[in-house]
Amino acid sequence: MDGNGRWAASRGLPRTAGHVAGVANVSRVVEAAPDLGIGVLTLFAFSADNWRRPQAEVQSLMELLAEYLERETPRSVANGIRLQAIGRRDRLDPGLRAAITRAEAVTAAGTRLWLRLAVDYSGRDAILAAARGLMELSRETLGTALGPPVDLLIRTGGERRLSDFLLWECAYAELVFSRRMWPDFDAADLAGAVREFRGRERRFGAVPQKLARATAAWLD
Ligand code: IPE
Ligand code: MG
Repeated sequence: MDGNGRWAASRGLPRTAGHVAGVANVSRVVEAAPDLGIGVLTLFAFSADNWRRPQAEVQSLMELLAEYLERETPRSVANGIRLQAIGRRDRLDPGLRAAITRAEAVTAAGTRLWLRLAVDYSGRDAILAAARGLMELSRETLGTALGPPVDLLIRTGGERRLSDFLLWECAYAELVFSRRMWPDFDAADLAGAVREFRGRERRFGAVPQKLARATAAWLD
């Protein structure tokens, strides 16, 4: 979710107004996701490096997150959405931490969409934390400890970098970059990204299906 600040600046508004618009857009995108065949949606809400931002901006992002949980938890239960936060929790305000725990508990049975919010998240730290908690370290155990592999990564706001997001899980992710600022990234943009994803041939290091079949026929 990138581009809130620039969205606001282009309208002569303070950055926080961009974050307010960004949060409003989360609900729109979340509502559109299940019908597009999306079962797991992870939103990068606050990175472990975002603490470097001015304190007032950090504070307002945290408040917006708490408000979002307050407002969306009951709606998530009604809509079959399972909420989960990934990232560190020890640096969050105790009130926000409690709101996250509560939201996770009451939405746990949701099966329509698994919505993960990355908060105080770093992909590198997540890998380290997961590895430290394992008795036996392998691709399988670490992969399971981290979470599902990413099929499609969408980056909004015109940037073309990973910014420490789901590094292990993105090993074979298809990348889609959108110039849209996050508050303007709507259901049609999401549908477009999914369409682009579906049009891509994923080979996971193997050869294209057609070529594999031709080779097999030739060997027969
Ligand atoms: C929102 O967009 C991302 C968050 C971490 C909340 P930005 O705040 O990064 O917006 P830009 O990049 O300055 O436009
Ligand atoms: Mg940004």
